[in-house]
Amino acid sequence: MTTRAVVTGVGHYLPARVVENSEFEASLDTSDAWIRTRSGIERRHFAASDETTSDLATRAAQAALADAGITPGDIDAIVLATSTADLTFPSAATMVQHALGMTHGFAFDVQAVCAGFIYALTNANALIVSGQAQRVLVIGAETFSRIMDWQDRTTCVLFGDGAGALVLEARAGTGDTGDRGILSADLNSDGRYRDILYVDGGVSTQTTGFLRMQGKEVFRHAVEKLAATAETAMARIGMTPDQIDWIVPHQANIRIIQGTAKKLGLPMSRVVVTVQDHGNTSAASIPLALSVGKARGQIREGDVIVTEAIGGGLAWGAVVLRW
Ligand code: ACO
Repeated sequence: MTTRAVVTGVGHYLPARVVENSEFEASLDTSDAWIRTRSGIERRHFAASDETTSDLATRAAQAALADAGITPGDIDAIVLATSTADLTFPSAATMVQHALGMTHGFAFDVQAVCAGFIYALTNANALIVSGQAQRVLVIGAETFSRIMDWQDRTTCVLFGDGAGALVLEARAGTGDTGDRGILSADLNSDGRYRDILYVDGGVSTQTTGFLRMQGKEVFRHAVEKLAATAETAMARIGMTPDQIDWIVPHQANIRIIQGTAKKLGLPMSRVVVTVQDHGNTSAASIPLALSVGKARGQIREGDVIVTEAIGGGLAWGAVVLRW
């Protein structure tokens, strides 16, 4: 018998304020047409000034718990992927734990920027497979609007705020790829690429900083590394792209999503796309897309999903799971 970490609930939360591309035309030399054609983004949500990452995360967690039909008392651990935590410490995960009324179990943040949810999922899977937890809330939540330079048209039009969450539960499996749950993962990072995507501030520099990106360079790495990590994760369990029902990619840019699907030999009809409505929500983008994909009726129980992401670091990776 093999222990599998199976998705039993999913949910998301988006802040109420929707910002259409055209809103940027008033303050920047940009246009709806440029943003749409270069990125695929049409709109994004921005958190209210009194709304923090842990607020968004808590709402997403509550939705995922309701979907799973369980209560916070049933959860053993919370793993929260974010680069925009409320405070330097404590972790946003412990704030969510408190907001959910939990005084048991343990909670921690994972920071791998846009690849954060892949890292969090892999960590949560390890906790379940090693027997340290039976039920884990895995959350991706961000308020990237707080680290935007509103004068920099090359970055500020691309990002948004939001949160998504999964409930993972230990279930007995047979050990083959017919099992539901996480089947394989592949994680990578390479710090040589720090300067192409980073925030120019932080605790040790006593500033918050703004996101800085060499978009063309990131783009160049993205398609190649995302296809490679997805192929590695599939190869580890002897799977090939024709056995995949859905790619659920990090939602940064439609052209990266299309390029990666093409490299994997999969049509866009098998890709869950939400970038047009959410923009790039960093670590929140994958759980948001999983939740929206399920709500749309695209993702169904038994489907095989490859999910992949790349972000600052560079850090990148992929997970193969059967829903
Ligand atoms: N509006 C109008 N013009 C603009 C804008 C804008 N918002 N931004 C840039 N431009 C201009 C540039 O200044 C440039 O003008 P120039 O030719 O006179 O110098 C021109 O448009 C073309 O700019 P490029 O950077 O070459 O445009 P490109 O086609 O590469 O698209 C983009 C830019 C969308 C950023 C793209 O490179 C990209 O998506 N890169 C990947 C970014 C990404 O995915 N990041 C996230 C991954 S990691 C994470 O999620 C944190």
